[in-house]
Amino acid sequence: MVELECSACGKKYDASKEQHLCTCGKPLLARYDLRRAAATLTLENLKSRPRTLWRYAEVLPNDAPVSLGEGMTALVHAERLGASIHCGPGSLRRLYVKDEGLNPTGSFKARGMTTAVSRAKQLGAKALAAPTAGNAGGALAAYAAAAGIPAVIVMPADTPAANVMECQAFGAKVVKLNGLISDCGKYVAEHKDREGWYDVSTLKEPYRVEGKKTMGYELWEQFGGKLPDVIFYPTGGGVGLIGMCKAFDEMQEMGWIGAERPRMVAVQAEGCAPIVRAWEAHQNTAQFFQNAATIASGLRVPGPLGDLLILSMLRQTKGTALSATDEEMLQAGRELASLEGIFAAPEGAATVSAARKLAASGWIKPDETVVLFNTGTGYKYAEAWQRALA
Ligand SMILES: Cc1ncc(COP(=O)(O)O)c(C=O)c1O
Ligand SMILES: [Zn+2]
Repeated sequence: MVELECSACGKKYDASKEQHLCTCGKPLLARYDLRRAAATLTLENLKSRPRTLWRYAEVLPNDAPVSLGEGMTALVHAERLGASIHCGPGSLRRLYVKDEGLNPTGSFKARGMTTAVSRAKQLGAKALAAPTAGNAGGALAAYAAAAGIPAVIVMPADTPAANVMECQAFGAKVVKLNGLISDCGKYVAEHKDREGWYDVSTLKEPYRVEGKKTMGYELWEQFGGKLPDVIFYPTGGGVGLIGMCKAFDEMQEMGWIGAERPRMVAVQAEGCAPIVRAWEAHQNTAQFFQNAATIASGLRVPGPLGDLLILSMLRQTKGTALSATDEEMLQAGRELASLEGIFAAPEGAATVSAARKLAASGWIKPDETVVLFNTGTGYKYAEAWQRALA
């Protein structure tokens, strides 16, 4: 890693020191010497590397990794589900599910936390803190335990029980608030200086994005050096989407791909859809979504800090944004489970519902390669699945 750069104003920061937001208030992104990286980061060399996301070492912060075996999750060809999705006169033949539920702590949040905690440890952090909708807290608590650093996890009081239990089991201090993740974020911001916490909030430190971008690298590698045509991503804070788009830009700079991009589809819950609203209103930024409510706890992010980045990436990739209701997610979760053997989080199930809608409308063509991200395991969502199966 060479330096950090503001995603909005371009101001540069020293990456060897602890950094959070830019003085302009926007997120910082890590920059690398990509010409040098391209010399050794090749499909051939990757064949003999460990099957974790740390295989992409040239484009990650070069710390001693705090690793639990995250990344290189299965890319499942969802033939039976694809056959059930009508697309013009045909169906979706090239439908894939990237199953992030297979990560340590059962979600893609492990990716961001392995890089963020590794870096925080290197920088000498004494305690780590983050607000969470659920899964990020579990992942932070696990990596903090592995790193031997205390963690404070701040979550809404009605977060799924499994998320609370895992944080407690990992030895983290859990603070429950009557409110949403935005209130939890305020709590961390107000307490961190006094308590000496290193703030690991989404986009308020630069390295969670780095771990999450490896989802983009893995797709390229798993498709044999190609990218899919369309990617459906359940979007809360948007870090997964921002990370993958950053990966695609890096790949282009390394000469792996051209200017073409997968069309990114941000999938949100109807009960909390700030990005969808902004997208439909042709706005560059999102308004705070009042009274957010959905069973997909990870999508209950009413005011995403990365709104500007998410919306510009949807535009640049000729993507789109749409939402699914809780009932649609529960139904889609049953379909994904019974047709493919994948027990998904409601967030992941939402992408199935969204793909059905965009296939029916003709936005996707039957011969296109389509990837749905199941961002988490269903095993952590006992409350939602009880409703789905009632
Ligand atoms: C299962 C799951 N999917 C998706 C998301 C949204 O993630 P992002 O912040 O990358 O948009 C979350 C966030 O908590 C989550 O737990
Ligand atoms: Zn800036």
